[in-house]
Amino acid sequence: MRIDVVTLFPEFVQQGIGFGVIGRAAERGLLEVEAWNPRDYAEGGYRRVDDSVCGGGPGMVMLIEPLRKALAAARQAAAGKAPVIYLSPQGRRLTQDKVRQLASLPRMILLCGRYEGIDERLVEREVDEELSIGDYVLSGGELAAAVVIDAIGRLQEGALGDAQSALQDSFSVGLLDCPHYTRPVGHEFGEVPAVLLSGDHAAVNRWRRMQSLGRTWLRRPELLENLTLGQDDQRLLEEFKREHKGQTHEQDH
Ligand code: ADE
Repeated sequence: MRIDVVTLFPEFVQQGIGFGVIGRAAERGLLEVEAWNPRDYAEGGYRRVDDSVCGGGPGMVMLIEPLRKALAAARQAAAGKAPVIYLSPQGRRLTQDKVRQLASLPRMILLCGRYEGIDERLVEREVDEELSIGDYVLSGGELAAAVVIDAIGRLQEGALGDAQSALQDSFSVGLLDCPHYTRPVGHEFGEVPAVLLSGDHAAVNRWRRMQSLGRTWLRRPELLENLTLGQDDQRLLEEFKREHKGQTHEQDH
């Protein structure tokens, strides 16, 4: 997969994805990321990329022309159809479903804004989709682009050591992930749950499923509303609730 990023801070994006699973995926050629700086396409001695807000008010807005030229260069380099995705708090919220959909594309262009944002006319003409990574405001789209690249990159075939680990992620089946433990089995902070040491795979799977259901119920009950649980899952969740009597949704605490 190839991702072109239009950003005033190319190093920010490049360095943000240089580590761990994503860094290795890039090294192995599973993921190619290239950055395009609108300042390189700006005119004049100052290479201006922004100007004041029409109508007055604080802050600056990114100019159309440098962005348009940087996008054109990215498009040409990406060769072939690449949707332009603008990262902004006004976008549709990114979900794991959306991540999966994007991960199946061969290429895309991520557009990062700074300041108050981008001249709306460029958004209307050049942007295919606007995405937000959450209901909070960042000082620019670069961190959001790095988030998108990370989430997509780890789903590229061969990126994760064990393909199963993506299947077990939180959200991959609409539920939160279960808790995980490693050695030492006994520690001053507590014991590893005995079932995980039993060697009984069916019991381990049952326990994990129950924890996933229970955690989702406790922490993100709205996710359960979108699912139809089978009878086994309903029983597991009831068992979890019995074992956690008195606990209710943690969400608003
Ligand atoms: N740029 C600024 N805030 C953002 C957000 N929450 N998501 C995506 N891009 C952004």
